[in-house]
Amino acid sequence: MKIAVLPGDGIGTEIVAEAVKVLRALDLGFEMEEALVGGAAYEAQGHPLPESTLKLAQQADAVLFGAVGDWKYDKLERALRPEQAILGLRKHLQLFANFRPAICYEQLTHASSLKPELVAGLDILIIRELTGDIYFGQPRGRRASPDGAFQGAPEAFDTMRYSRPEIERIAHVAFQAARKRGKKVTSVDKANVLETFQFWKDVVTEVHAQYPDVELDHMYVDNAAMQLVKAPKNFDVIVTGNMFGDILSDEAAMLTGSIGMLPSASLNDRKQGLYEPSHGSAPDIAGQGVANPLATILSAAMMLRFSLDQAEAADRIERAVKDVLAQGLRTADIHSEGTTRVGTKEMGDAVVARLK
Ligand code: NAI
Ligand code: MG
Repeated sequence: MKIAVLPGDGIGTEIVAEAVKVLRALDLGFEMEEALVGGAAYEAQGHPLPESTLKLAQQADAVLFGAVGDWKYDKLERALRPEQAILGLRKHLQLFANFRPAICYEQLTHASSLKPELVAGLDILIIRELTGDIYFGQPRGRRASPDGAFQGAPEAFDTMRYSRPEIERIAHVAFQAARKRGKKVTSVDKANVLETFQFWKDVVTEVHAQYPDVELDHMYVDNAAMQLVKAPKNFDVIVTGNMFGDILSDEAAMLTGSIGMLPSASLNDRKQGLYEPSHGSAPDIAGQGVANPLATILSAAMMLRFSLDQAEAADRIERAVKDVLAQGLRTADIHSEGTTRVGTKEMGDAVVARLK
């Protein structure tokens, strides 16, 4: 089994080092090979996703990814921006299903922006489609407005699109995931306004016929945004498109206290996956040794479970994380009175110590 380790930029290198430490402590004999990605790769090799990095990822059973990006690259042309690395990896590895669990740990209910009773025991799973939608639809660009009140004025446009096979495969993934959990799927759309999402709703409904044991409901995205802060525990699995999933998963992240706690997995249909924290490279705290490594460590647990057939080792990591929280150890993002503030390394060391 081979793991491609791509730390990336900003806090990426700090948090991935801790996850690698945890994986090594399990002593499962994985081969781990590291490569540059994002801004770090652009600086060294002139491209955010060099050929050698892509090849390593393609040959690996799983990719452990940190984060990419920094404001200093904002002026670069789009193709050379660090974020293109993650889009390129998703595309080349055909990673179409993004799993973002939002779990509120018992000890962190007070860290949520919501009242503790609304989030205590929260355990929902957002499944975001990753290959379609307005992020990739063609045509896109800038032009002189062809019609309307501002005809001739400069304008920009993107295209929202989804094909039937794209919707079918993500719907299957969602229903199958729900079978192993609370047996309920909420499909989030904007069918009242957008043809793309009327189609989405129709296809999800069709696929649902094959899963009579799973409950399906449909919700408009604006209502879903409200319900997530009003009664988040009413959800089990949420399945939605690329853009709505991007936004709703960050919203759900906040319910749990800190984005520094939230792992994610992006999977293809060959069990190969890319595992990364839900957050970005946090340039505001990079290099200070204060970032929370738990999202990345929990991503490594998801990697063991989904791509490497090591469910037991995944459980061990998740238990160790709960244990260090119970011990009262907290990085700055989740720190509160009466708990012990630790840095990135101490947190990683504590998880390793609990594993043993
Ligand atoms: P961000 O997630 O990097 O940071 C948002 C806020 O959360 C910041 O205040 C940051 O300090 C805090 N934060 C994030 N992770 C944390 C952790 N592990 N521990 C403690 N605090 C943490 O999002 P932002 O600021 O919008 O973007 C920064 C850069 O990251 C940009 O260049 C953006 O493009 C990139 N980015 C990359 C992603 C990826 O690599 N998949 C995903 C999202 C953003
Ligand atoms: Mg996002």
